[in-house]
Amino acid sequence: MQRLGLPLLVLLLCCYLSGNEANRVYVHPFYLFAAENVSCETLQTQTAKPLLTGPVAPLDIEVLTPDSRDPLSQDGQRQNITQRTAVLAGLLNSLGLRMYQAFSSKQHRNILLSPVNTFGSLVTFYLGASKKTAGEFQELLGLSSGTDQKDCVSLMDGHKVLKTLQNINSQVDDGPKDEITTQVWAFTRQDAQLSKDFIQGTQDFSDASFIRSVDFSKPQEAEQLVNSFVEKTSDGKVRSIFSDINPSSDLLFLTSFHFQGNWTKAFQPEKTSLQEFHMDERTITMVPMMTHTGQYHYLNDKVRRCTVVKMPLSKWSYMLLVLPHEGTNILDLEPKLRTDVMSDWHQSLQEGLLELSLPNFSMSSDTNLRTLLANMAPEVEAKLLGSQAEFSQLSNSKHFTIDKAVSKVLFEMSAEEVGPHEGAELQDKVQEEGIPLKLSINRPFLFSVIEGNSNAILILGKITTL
Ligand SMILES: *[C@@H]1O[C@H](CO)[C@@H](O)[C@H](O)[C@H]1NC(C)=O
Ligand SMILES: *[C@@H]1O[C@H](CO)[C@@H](O)[C@H](O)[C@H]1NC(C)=O
Ligand SMILES: *[C@@H]1O[C@H](CO)[C@@H](O)[C@H](O)[C@H]1NC(C)=O
Ligand SMILES: *[C@@H]1O[C@H](CO)[C@@H](O)[C@H](O)[C@H]1NC(C)=O
Repeated sequence: MQRLGLPLLVLLLCCYLSGNEANRVYVHPFYLFAAENVSCETLQTQTAKPLLTGPVAPLDIEVLTPDSRDPLSQDGQRQNITQRTAVLAGLLNSLGLRMYQAFSSKQHRNILLSPVNTFGSLVTFYLGASKKTAGEFQELLGLSSGTDQKDCVSLMDGHKVLKTLQNINSQVDDGPKDEITTQVWAFTRQDAQLSKDFIQGTQDFSDASFIRSVDFSKPQEAEQLVNSFVEKTSDGKVRSIFSDINPSSDLLFLTSFHFQGNWTKAFQPEKTSLQEFHMDERTITMVPMMTHTGQYHYLNDKVRRCTVVKMPLSKWSYMLLVLPHEGTNILDLEPKLRTDVMSDWHQSLQEGLLELSLPNFSMSSDTNLRTLLANMAPEVEAKLLGSQAEFSQLSNSKHFTIDKAVSKVLFEMSAEEVGPHEGAELQDKVQEEGIPLKLSINRPFLFSVIEGNSNAILILGKITTL
């Protein structure tokens, strides 16, 4: 077993001043999230601490209250953006973009993913993983120490990661109403207990969690029961998620990420009209197109052949809309999406007067996390959730498996009502500022919703069909 004091390690391995950020000390991401007194733990040995598990309440369709929480373990207080938050945002953006690209190369439909939610689900599974599998999770997440020998792994503190994710989400909520709601459901088979660490994890990164046990031996009844429980506890937003439940299932996992936003640049409903949307060269459909003239931050990227527009959504969140130039295929643009490209775009935006037309859309998706990983590489899926994954820290029962893992994303935009006064003000301004450039989002486009303090990507999506 290698054991080095943490401060010494940080000093030896990972402190240097990077050239362009002269005052910022670079710390390897792992050391921001490392477990206390971290050492490289030998894979063969059992963990020193005994696994603490607890019984799971049976699913009762009349009992819809979320799991109770220990108020002490929730730092409800909103923390300021720290180095930890910024580093984690970089990691989840990078993984989110890679997942998006792998997904989009396999299917050519609309896409809606939440990088922050996917990351949180994987970290929750990490909490139940055996050491070897845990090491694989850290590798994918960009949170391995980078110095471990083959036969040992330095573990991170998953709770720190999950709480930081929840902190990123809570930055967006500005005002009395939450714009982001994260829920987690885990359904386990009747005789199994679940680890307290995993249960704590489901609470760390959610606003409400529901852990219940279910009799899977009659799969059709189980499916009906689980789906109606989810529907009731999500206010009818999440429906018919699980199908083909296997009677020998151990655990079904579901998380939902619900974003409810308002355009701060007011689109007036009376200016919305049916206009053409060109799904491809041959297919045109008519969609309700909202129009607004005003000052926007945007840029024309001649190299990557696209136009990027920033749309403020709230005090701390914004959307980047990416529209390929006419005649440019969106599939050629997608492989160019990288974290540095996105931040370059954001830094190079210039303010100007636009007459912007945009389809009035809301959307939702359910993504199977196993498929998402398998699209990246079948071996990744096998090691993290599939045949080679081991979850000895998840339950008291042996050979426990995560049979289904689904991420539901709901993206809903509503327009804030504009008073007549505000509308008149807009008109005056426009007359003063001259002739706007017309930009119509009337063909397939990419969009992302970003938390503005950390620049974490909350949602990443593509619309090709309306
Ligand atoms: C870490 O080490 C310190 C000092 O040796 C000890 O007091 C503390 O309990 C340790 N923490 C854990 C989680 O083992
Ligand atoms: C965040 O930072 C501001 C300004 O630096 C400070 O006034 C405020 O108290 C901080 N909030 C928290 C929760 O630390
Ligand atoms: C967008 O669509 C929603 C739902 O159909 C509608 O309530 C809203 O007024 C529309 N907004 C605009 C600006 O057209
Ligand atoms: C968005 O605007 C609607 C209508 O004005 C309002 O009911 C809703 O609370 C707002 N949502 C947020 C998150 O501010």
